[in-house]
Amino acid sequence: MKETILERRTRLLGPNVPTFYETPVHLVKGEGVWLWDADGRKYLDCYNNVAHVGHCHPHVVKAVSEQAATLNTHTRYLHDGILDYVERLTGKFSHDLSQAVMVCTGSEANDIAMRMAQAVTGKTGFIATDNTYHGNTALVSQISTRKPPIGGYSDAIRLVPSPDTLNPLGGDLATQGAAFRREIQQAIDDLNERGVGFAGMVLCPSFCNEGFPSLHDGFLDEAVKVIRAAGGLIICDEVQPGFGRVGSHWWGHERVGFAPDIVTLGKPMGNGHPVAAVVTRPDVMAAFREAFSYFNTFGGNPVSAAAASAVLDVIEGENLVQNARDVSDYAIAQMDLIDHPYKVNVRGTGLFFGMEYMDHDGNPASVFVVRVVEEMRKRGVLMNAIGRHRNTLKIRPPLVIKKPEIDFALEALSAALKVVPL
Ligand SMILES: Cc1ncc(COP(=O)(O)O)c(C=O)c1O
Repeated sequence: MKETILERRTRLLGPNVPTFYETPVHLVKGEGVWLWDADGRKYLDCYNNVAHVGHCHPHVVKAVSEQAATLNTHTRYLHDGILDYVERLTGKFSHDLSQAVMVCTGSEANDIAMRMAQAVTGKTGFIATDNTYHGNTALVSQISTRKPPIGGYSDAIRLVPSPDTLNPLGGDLATQGAAFRREIQQAIDDLNERGVGFAGMVLCPSFCNEGFPSLHDGFLDEAVKVIRAAGGLIICDEVQPGFGRVGSHWWGHERVGFAPDIVTLGKPMGNGHPVAAVVTRPDVMAAFREAFSYFNTFGGNPVSAAAASAVLDVIEGENLVQNARDVSDYAIAQMDLIDHPYKVNVRGTGLFFGMEYMDHDGNPASVFVVRVVEEMRKRGVLMNAIGRHRNTLKIRPPLVIKKPEIDFALEALSAALKVVPL
């Protein structure tokens, strides 16, 4: 019998290479918010934050192909592309975040950010939440909690409970910020008592991988104060909320209202081209450059810079931050109208939203949500689940999605919710 593509993938790439869905989707083409599989089946992409300005956006394709046809080389030569881009990118930040290192993945960006905090403080202790993912280098794996690192977490890492909507820290949504601050203070004290010292905290301003909990205004204010008081740096992982996804602002930290020392960027930055960055203040950059002799062969090469620059053109030219806000307001209002006995809340920020489900016994309806995700796939809409119990639907489409496509997705969702058994 002919080997399937899945069998071939395992033979060539090895076991346990992650896929989505019981029967993984074999995609061959994308355009805007639509994808096509090898059988010609069309799907609405309600999940992909990499194709930020839409799959195969012609402006990005043109910029990449023109630069690829002109010059692409490693990054020890002088080139205007990286400089024009960094000038433009840092122009979108305040608080003196005016310099950047360009890299190829979010993992590398977080790795560098952590090393920047080590360089500034001379300490090695980091805090992150206990239910998150920030990447896959040896250092960053220590703060990615999907699988404990071999040999266990290092003494330099402390994981604090992540905030939650249904089970807020300290038992109360209104005081969850104070409870989060207490956890962080304890972790800082512990790192200091162990003699490791505190270098910084890595956090996503929307706590996306934690399940994007609803947080009150100023939620992070108290946490930020204790981190600063202890001399630690705040590393803000904007790999998911960045580049306008939150709708109200370009960056998640602006929405929450705090000033990170370092910001890391990735996934949406090149619309699928592997380009990522670390943005910081000149004093932090100087300490990093002094402590490490850092070079990245591909980071910010001419084609990567062209891709990233073209993405900025499209976000600005097509007013996509505003679109994220308008479409999200509409989608959340429509989702509020959906009735289901397991539904406990609808929440989200910009084009990152979803619906949480608990069963009749008050337990997270994790299996139910997996079935809904599978049923949606059958109905031609790609989405996924997230949260500590994976009982929240995660909807995170490209920023170019419009209201008619939201209607299509939510009609499919209403129908799916009627047929998935309780
Ligand atoms: C919040 C966050 N940070 C960092 C990363 C790592 O990015 P990459 O896969 O580009 O290394 C991810 C990837 O899922 C992520 O979700």
